[in-house]
Amino acid sequence: MGVLKDCIQGKQVNSIPVWFMRQAGRYLPEFRTIRSKNQNFINLCLNPKLSKEITLQPLKRFNLDAAIIFSDILFINYALGQNVKFEKDYGPVLSEINIENILRTTDQEIIEKLSPIYELIKTTSKEAILINKDLIGFVGATWTILVYMLNKKSPKKIIDNKVYNYKNEKELIQKIIDTQKLHIKNQAESGASIIQIFDSWAGLLTKEKLDKYIYQPTKEIVEYTKSLGVEVICFPRGINSYKEYCDIIKPNAISIDYETNPIKIAEDINIPIQGGLDPKYLLLDKDDMIKSAKKYLEIFKNHKYIFNLGHGVMPDTNPENIKILVDFVKDYK
Ligand code: CP3
Repeated sequence: MGVLKDCIQGKQVNSIPVWFMRQAGRYLPEFRTIRSKNQNFINLCLNPKLSKEITLQPLKRFNLDAAIIFSDILFINYALGQNVKFEKDYGPVLSEINIENILRTTDQEIIEKLSPIYELIKTTSKEAILINKDLIGFVGATWTILVYMLNKKSPKKIIDNKVYNYKNEKELIQKIIDTQKLHIKNQAESGASIIQIFDSWAGLLTKEKLDKYIYQPTKEIVEYTKSLGVEVICFPRGINSYKEYCDIIKPNAISIDYETNPIKIAEDINIPIQGGLDPKYLLLDKDDMIKSAKKYLEIFKNHKYIFNLGHGVMPDTNPENIKILVDFVKDYK
């Protein structure tokens, strides 16, 4: 375990921890090489040899403090029997669901379907390149999983009523929560040292729906993860009140999106903070990129801060910029 975990635990660190969401991905030519020979994204993730190689690709190039497993949040849907495919330039496409069948899925069936991910974690966590570094496992938040499950593709700004109106809602939500817990437990037992919860569509909900779809389920999952002795970082992208979210859910660290005002976050929130920088800044020339990174480092100077972005690395990012940025953060005093 390294500076990332130390920082989340509130310990003094001698450099600022840094990793990036989507640090393994299409901006890396070595990823594109593997991807071009493996058209089926789900099968690629479920190939532990290749997914391990992809997970470690960014660490071979950059001085990062953590690897994040190469997988996807939609494996919860997959484990519950919903087919998931990715169409080029469109995104995920999910099949129709039968709620009765989902509710009948057993833990054993789920673990069996996800076992290549646990194999990936077991072998990756033993790699020498990860000594004194963390291996991050993850799940999608209940709300975001539910959105994909019922909407069957990425949602637009406003989501359809079908996400709220159907029979067996309570049972379905609980089944998703139980599957997430099972997935977290197996990731932790396999060697993931930190869990991040991605709530990519948190920003779509109105205030009065937050408690039911986000606060209650996420609180249950965060408490469960902590009970396993594993730290948990939450990323409720686009949520209006990060403070209220932290007060209710109590994650070990909070990851902020690029539309959120970091100055207000620094005033309002006391737990370790991660991220924030707009990934578009990595497309600029290096002086502008460094200037924008410095802004975040200065704002969070008196906080426990983990350097990261406000969303994933964009596919047209130049890997050289990632190197410059990581080296800048690691040398920052
Ligand atoms: O961060 C990492 O490097 C770890 C791997 C990871 C992936 N997806 C790999 C991936 C993680 C943590 C995710 C999380 C994920 N997946 C989220 C939450 C974060 C966010 O972006 O808001 C969401 C919403 C998904 C669902 C998903 N998966 C979408 C919408 C897409 C298509 C969009 C796209 O960028 O192509 C994916 C596919 C996906 N997941 C890719 C990768 C590297 C691209 C696959 C490809 O090469 O075509």
